[in-house]
Amino acid sequence: MKEKSQEIDRFLVDLLTRVGEDLRKDVTKHKQVDTKSGPNDLVTNFDKSTEKMIVTTIKKQYPNATIVSEEGFGDDVKSMDGLVFFVDPIDGTMNFVKCHESFASMIGVYLDGKPFVAAIIDVMQKKIFHGGPEIGVFQNGKKLSQPDDIELKDGLVVISGPMVLKNYLNTQEVVHKSSGLRVLGCAGVVFKHVMTGKEVLYMSYLRPWDLAAGRVLCETLGLKVVGVDGEPVNMLKSQVVIVGTQKVVSEVLQTVKNSN
Ligand code: IPD
Ligand code: CA
Ligand code: CA
Repeated sequence: MKEKSQEIDRFLVDLLTRVGEDLRKDVTKHKQVDTKSGPNDLVTNFDKSTEKMIVTTIKKQYPNATIVSEEGFGDDVKSMDGLVFFVDPIDGTMNFVKCHESFASMIGVYLDGKPFVAAIIDVMQKKIFHGGPEIGVFQNGKKLSQPDDIELKDGLVVISGPMVLKNYLNTQEVVHKSSGLRVLGCAGVVFKHVMTGKEVLYMSYLRPWDLAAGRVLCETLGLKVVGVDGEPVNMLKSQVVIVGTQKVVSEVLQTVKNSN
């Protein structure tokens, strides 16, 4: 199993290195921008071409795997049996279009429903976070250590803007109890910050491809990833997810309970 993890880890790092090289060229080019569920949910021709390239490369190397991917080039996956790849070709498309930085590409791999291997590239910073439970987590090949189990009052939190504005699930109280709120617009960049101890909480409504890679890497580093009921998340569903240090997630779950 360890050898299989190492093999897929190398595959993901090579693949996201290529994706990063391409997207750094694409970022300033003219883009065809369309909307999906609403005016702030964007998709570009580069989201689609990147996903096509990633899906084709995975299918060639792992023909028996199934693929859950954002822009529709993967499979209609109903079961977590075997190897399942989750692909978010450009995470933070709004940042890709408007700011030309703070966007990522993410692939999370699960084996029979369990987190197995993942990689996230912060494209403009050329930083790849990769690994899994059998091998540990690395930043461009350098092993990361577990972040400290910081309390809410001592850490910065990232919660989705709309959730805080509506005080959904008592999130304003979470912000008041913390060192402060940050909103970054890219799940992959937030996972990077939580893994390296810059922030202690990420709370947002996430789709399977937004969460899959971050969950593998965060759990491997001893961080907690749960739904608002405190239970493990179903990877084939979209839901509000709480990611953070053990202490922070316990405090936040208590605050969420008080909102009921
Ligand atoms: C979005 C980003 C954003 C999060 C949204 C996601 P996309 O991903 O990760 O941070 O708040 O929920 O949909 O659509 O740019 O891949
Ligand atoms: Ca995306
Ligand atoms: Ca995303």
